[in-house]
Parts: sequence; structure tokens; C-alpha cells
Amino acid sequence: MQETSKKSQIIDTLEKLRNLPTIPKILFEVQSLLKEETINNIKLANTISKDQGLTTKLLTVANSPLFGLQRKVSSIEFAILLLGGEEIGNIVTAISLSDTIRFNSSANFKFMDYWKHSMIVGTASRDIARRLGMSEIASDAFLAGMLHDLGIQLLIKHFPNEYSKILVMMDSGNQNFYEAEQQIMGCTHEYIGKFLAQKWALPAELCEVLEFHHQPEKSRQNPLLCSIVHLADCMTQEFKIGNTYWDNDISFEAGISDILGFPSLEALGEFTSNYREAFADMADSVQL
Ligand SMILES: [Fe+2]
Ligand SMILES: [Fe+2]
Repeated sequence: MQETSKKSQIIDTLEKLRNLPTIPKILFEVQSLLKEETINNIKLANTISKDQGLTTKLLTVANSPLFGLQRKVSSIEFAILLLGGEEIGNIVTAISLSDTIRFNSSANFKFMDYWKHSMIVGTASRDIARRLGMSEIASDAFLAGMLHDLGIQLLIKHFPNEYSKILVMMDSGNQNFYEAEQQIMGCTHEYIGKFLAQKWALPAELCEVLEFHHQPEKSRQNPLLCSIVHLADCMTQEFKIGNTYWDNDISFEAGISDILGFPSLEALGEFTSNYREAFADMADSVQL
């Protein structure tokens, strides 16, 4: 079958999915509290605390080494106080959207591997933005990094046959995951992730990160955000952190050096190598 018709079949299936995940209720509740003129921290903490899984993950994020807080965060109230509404809102969004398409772990894919990878790329993206003097986009970089591979979740949950074929193709040939996706589906997890992000009406620049995190130079809305996530994503492979065969063989696009304001590729390389230890600490600290 031609790649274009495979792709239109995938789109057709996506369009028809009756059980296409919906945005969780708790996220609407948190967002509406954050829109109030004066944010009521106690009310916000109580709302988040209703969800035990969300609470645990939020504290894991806040206490992770790459997040860089100097103090141990042991309660949601304290996390709100330290991080403020916008950052808490983005963390809750990232965790609850990712949880929405949670799938049961199988021999082929463990949810923990996915979660760990998302956490590392999210917190590293936030940290990279801050280290490059772009603190104003650090919180958005976290959200974008956490959600960048959302299409992988959708693929595993809703296209298990295609997913199995991709794995077989990877095992039997010398194709990487990305190339195998193209061959089997006529599109990649980038496309599928963007599809869901648009259905959820997420901000355009976030949709674009999902669509172009492997090819950030194609980004039009916010190449900076896309390049930061791309850099964090590639670093997980460079340092061999996590079991993320779906990202095997990805490598830095040289163009991000300019986009991120590095004077040379060597300078980018030096910046990257300083991260090795922080990535390893981070990977050790993640729990589910
Ligand atoms: Fe990806
Ligand atoms: Fe990734």
C-alpha cells in the first residue's frame, strides 16, 4: 500500500475513535482555579490532593534533581508556594494528559519507561531553558518536553497491530523506529501526537513541538521551544538514559545550535556533555 493511503487510513481510524481520550475533569477544575483573580492556594491544593496519583507524581517532579529546587517539597501546598500557579498548572497539565492515555505495560512496552523518558525530557527542557537565560519559557518547555512523545502512547494504545509490525520491522532489518513507522503507517508518532493535541485544542506552539520534535528546523511557531525539547530528547540517547528504543538513533539537528544561540557546534557539544551526571541522577530518582 502507498504511504499516503496508509496515512489516510490512520487518520480515518483516529477520526472515528469513539474512545479518543478526553481531557480529565481535574484539569478543568485546576485551570479554572488558576484563572481566578486571586489564586486560593488552599483550594488549589485540596483539588489536586483529591487525586492521589497526581499528587505523588507532582511531588516527584518537584523533587527531581533536574528541577533544581533547593528544598525538599513534601506537600502540594508547599509546592504551590515555591513554584507559583503557572508552573503548577503546567505540571498538572503534563501529568494528567499523559495519564489519560495510560496503557497497560506489556512485554513490549513498559509504561514506566515511557513515564521516565517524559519526566527526563520535561525537566531537562525546563533546565536547559533556564541555563540558556530563557527562564520565561522554562515552564512551557517542561510541559512540551513531558508531552513530546504523546503520539507513542496513542500508537501503542490504539494501533497495537501497527505497533507490533513496527517492532518486527525494527528487529528484522536495519531500520530505526521512526523509519519503520513511516513504512507501516505512512506517518510517525509526531503526526499522531499532533493530531490528538489539536483535538484537545492545546496551544499551537505545543502542537508544533509534538509534530516537529525530531525535526525542529521545520517549526514555525516557536523553533526555540522545539529545539530545546529536541536537545533534551537527543541527550537521553547520547547518554543512553532509559529504555527508549522508539528514540533509537535520533541525533541532534545541527541547525539547533544557531536557533539556541550557541556560537558554534562545539559550544553546543560542551554544553551537552555537562549534563551527563544530572541525567543519571534524574533517571535514578524517578518513580511511578
Ligand atoms: Fe519522538
Ligand atoms: Fe522522546
